[in-house]
Amino acid sequence: MLPSTEALDFERIIVTTNSLDTQIASIQTQCLTAIEQAHTTQQLESARVTFLGRQGEIAKLMDALKGMSVEQKKEFGPKLNTLKQNCQAAFDEKQSGIDQKQLLAAAQREQNFDVSAYIPNQLTGTIHPYTQIIEHIENIFNSMGFTITDGPEIETDFYNFTALNIPPDHPARDLHDTFWLAHEKNLLLRTHTSTAQIRAMQTQKPPIALCVNGRVYRHEATDATHDFQFMQTECMVIDKGISMANLLAGTQSILRALFEQSNLEIRVRPGYFPFVEPGIEVDITCPFCQGKGCSTCKRTGWIEAGGAGLIHPNVLKSGGIDPNIYSGWALGFGLTRLVMLKYGIPDIRLLHGNSLNFLKQF
Ligand code: PHE
Repeated sequence: MLPSTEALDFERIIVTTNSLDTQIASIQTQCLTAIEQAHTTQQLESARVTFLGRQGEIAKLMDALKGMSVEQKKEFGPKLNTLKQNCQAAFDEKQSGIDQKQLLAAAQREQNFDVSAYIPNQLTGTIHPYTQIIEHIENIFNSMGFTITDGPEIETDFYNFTALNIPPDHPARDLHDTFWLAHEKNLLLRTHTSTAQIRAMQTQKPPIALCVNGRVYRHEATDATHDFQFMQTECMVIDKGISMANLLAGTQSILRALFEQSNLEIRVRPGYFPFVEPGIEVDITCPFCQGKGCSTCKRTGWIEAGGAGLIHPNVLKSGGIDPNIYSGWALGFGLTRLVMLKYGIPDIRLLHGNSLNFLKQF
């Protein structure tokens, strides 16, 4: 008996749908295998074209869906969607893996930075030029065995003047343009860091070697090179048998280290400071032209570095040290002037002005 048309149709559908299920499964296996085995962008792309492309295997199955009955569409539509999603997901995952590997490989090949890459604006602070030079000075003095100390900025007449051999009515007091805080209590703003000499003598026993970097005040009109406050560096050595030769050698070593020039020479002239005897003014060969003559040294080849001398016996006595046993030397120089020279700062008001635009250059 011939099978009825209906039965035949039924059989055909079973065969077709059976084979569609098989095809879906087979294409999924093939596609996932192709993706898995792809190791380069090209291999992955060819797998994509074959299976996920516009005329690829999955698209062909989608096309076949169009000719099917509503029931078949209901059954196979979701199955085909799942197939497509599974294959697409596998492709995407593989693609990002390959991208990463390629980036890594490129980075290893090149091993360098992209200098044009964007860097966010970082508002980090900078170190004030004073602090930079003070750190430098302290390192030098530490390496030479000096201790770093400081004293109060509000001082008494005794430490600032009398103990330093500048008794009341001494004309040298006029040179200091003092800010008096309370005359009757003899309180003032220290006019120099030599105050630290007496304080050290009172609290330490020789041998003493100290360095002080500190702020001092003078009642002066302000201009490009003067301010009512500035900074000084003071150093002092006290021991048995300290002589002018020690002062000259010590001063030269310190200034050579400070300017980082091993051939820097010093020259001395007589100078008057009541707390030293003999007193000298120290000049150095201009560190900017090595003594040849430039605008900084006004073509002389020399620059004034500071005052120095052998500590006056009266000063040792004021500090409670016997001048018959001990002697010492002291050196003082303008730290502010040094900072301005070193960084080429033309106006002291810039250095003391706290303008961030100025300070962030350091
Ligand atoms: N204190 C002196 C000044 O301010 C400098 C100085 C220090 C001179 C030590 C000699 C010795 O001018």
